[in-house]
Amino acid sequence: MRRAKITIVGAGNVGATAAHWCAGAELGDIVLVDIPAAGDMPAGKALDLMESSPIMGFDAQITGTSDYADTKDSDIVVITAGSPRKPGMSRDDLLATNAKIMGIVSEEVKNTSPNAIVIVVSNPLDAMVQRCLEVTGFEPQRVMGQAGVLDTARFRTFIAMELGVSVEDVSALLMGGHGDTMVPLPNYTSVGGIPVTKLIKKDRLEEITQRARYGGKEIVDLLKTSAYYAPAAAVAQMCEAIIRDKKRVLPAAAYCETEYGVGGYYVGVPVVLGACGVERIIELDLSESENADFQNSINAVKELVSVMKSLT
Ligand code: LAC
Repeated sequence: MRRAKITIVGAGNVGATAAHWCAGAELGDIVLVDIPAAGDMPAGKALDLMESSPIMGFDAQITGTSDYADTKDSDIVVITAGSPRKPGMSRDDLLATNAKIMGIVSEEVKNTSPNAIVIVVSNPLDAMVQRCLEVTGFEPQRVMGQAGVLDTARFRTFIAMELGVSVEDVSALLMGGHGDTMVPLPNYTSVGGIPVTKLIKKDRLEEITQRARYGGKEIVDLLKTSAYYAPAAAVAQMCEAIIRDKKRVLPAAAYCETEYGVGGYYVGVPVVLGACGVERIIELDLSESENADFQNSINAVKELVSVMKSLT
């Protein structure tokens, strides 16, 4: 059986780190692509990473290129291309620049890897993944956005820190857009099977929820650019679910038509992720206040998409 072929578009911090995690987990061969102006940088990062393989003990071909011909017939394409956030910028401030880049990249992906499953990471995420769907014309189940795995990982980290327990035992859910309106769901969050609401007082849990909601900004303020270890690890987990057909239940930005009454937009929802991509969207009964927050988040996504459409 041949190894999976994973193309990662954008050899910057998120792209190169995703290559690192994916290679280390032996998920497949990896092609790192960047624009010609990046020169030999993608080839340099790819070779450097490959030279770590005898030490770390993984087998993978890793190449760097600016030529999409090298990405031909990829099984998965991860799109990280675009400008990252700088301090003081929201994800939405990247809309015009990154929508243009997403259009160009999606056209290339459509032509070179027509059967690929695409994971979009670029921001503002929910609008970028919609743009990718429109330009590629792929079935919606093959085009998704990475956000929920990252956002819940932040929520899980903060809960584990609060309780002094293993992160592995914290299972959490978060829905909505990948922006300030995202909706962490304490009622669907547990620690070793115990509802988190029984372990952390309401006010403190609200503070932790807020920290998770602004987790991306916290890193931008510290790093002066976007986060990359956790976003890239989230990408690797999604790639693994697809390549190994694990049917993982993870939150992802998925195209919701009738689901939750969204009407044809990408929002973060729990999905079953396997070899066919988003194989199922899980619909939950939300409480009145959870639903109000979710609708608010959906409206923010719709607004963002409508601004994008006026720009493109
Ligand atoms: C973040 C960026 C990747 O949340 O959106 O850190």
